[in-house]
Amino acid sequence: MRYIITKLRNKGSCVMNKNNQRQLAPIIIQGALPVESERMASKLDDVLIETIGGWKFWKGTYHGYPMIISKTRMGMSNSAAATAIAILRYHPIAIINQGTSGGHDPQLNVYDIILGKYAINIGAFKTPSKCIEAGSNSLEWVEAFDVLPEDETDPEPIAIRRFEADSKLLAVAHRIQHLYTKGKVVEGTIGSADVWNSELDRIHFFYKHYATSIEEMEAASVAQIASQFNIPFMGIRVVSNNITNGGTYDAGTGEACQDFVLEVAEQYMSEQ
Ligand code: 5AD
Repeated sequence: MRYIITKLRNKGSCVMNKNNQRQLAPIIIQGALPVESERMASKLDDVLIETIGGWKFWKGTYHGYPMIISKTRMGMSNSAAATAIAILRYHPIAIINQGTSGGHDPQLNVYDIILGKYAINIGAFKTPSKCIEAGSNSLEWVEAFDVLPEDETDPEPIAIRRFEADSKLLAVAHRIQHLYTKGKVVEGTIGSADVWNSELDRIHFFYKHYATSIEEMEAASVAQIASQFNIPFMGIRVVSNNITNGGTYDAGTGEACQDFVLEVAEQYMSEQ
């Protein structure tokens, strides 16, 4: 079944189908791993699986709304590539990156969900200069490196770039957050890098300097690509582990997050 919009609002988000009817563009929901994407994919109707390079996309509908589930694979490069491919191929109305994460904030428990008001890259720094054999101490890496500077003539743009969530996606998520009963739902900052930090001092450094709620490996990268195509974006992450308060890894969190994000996506689409 295809979803046909009868109202002619939001013309920019629609395409014409064969019968000259306006059709809503799809929303893309990403998950890095099978445990973060396959549950959502299994709930789509009229599914067509498309594999492009190493990336898998399930194209279908969810309760009548066009939706793409994307398995990005792990990390910043994989998620950036999957995002660029999906934007060019599916022309999405919005992108949600979701999945598991590790807590930086000791108040966050396993199963809590973070609505990413901000996503930041916590893997890009300019280190202090040190002589050979002077060692290395990441707690001294206080200069964040902005990989998307406005001034591209500056070879050393020192700044932390915060990608802000689309206000409409964030508002929709807040409006339906009461539907999530496995933990609390709070706004926060997502820190992304190709690093799994297990040093408590390092985690505390990010929490203190950049107010990171959680860490994972994709959201800021996806935000960076989506921003350059002007596609509304938000990261939504469930805490699957939190070594700041002894929260041990729980694989069930990945499914809980997918269920919540499907509700957010459906509500968002119903308001277009
Ligand atoms: N640190 C980094 N990434 C994490 N992930 C879950 N917990 C963490 C953590 N503590 C997510 C990443 C990546 C995979 C390893 O799981 O986003 O996709």
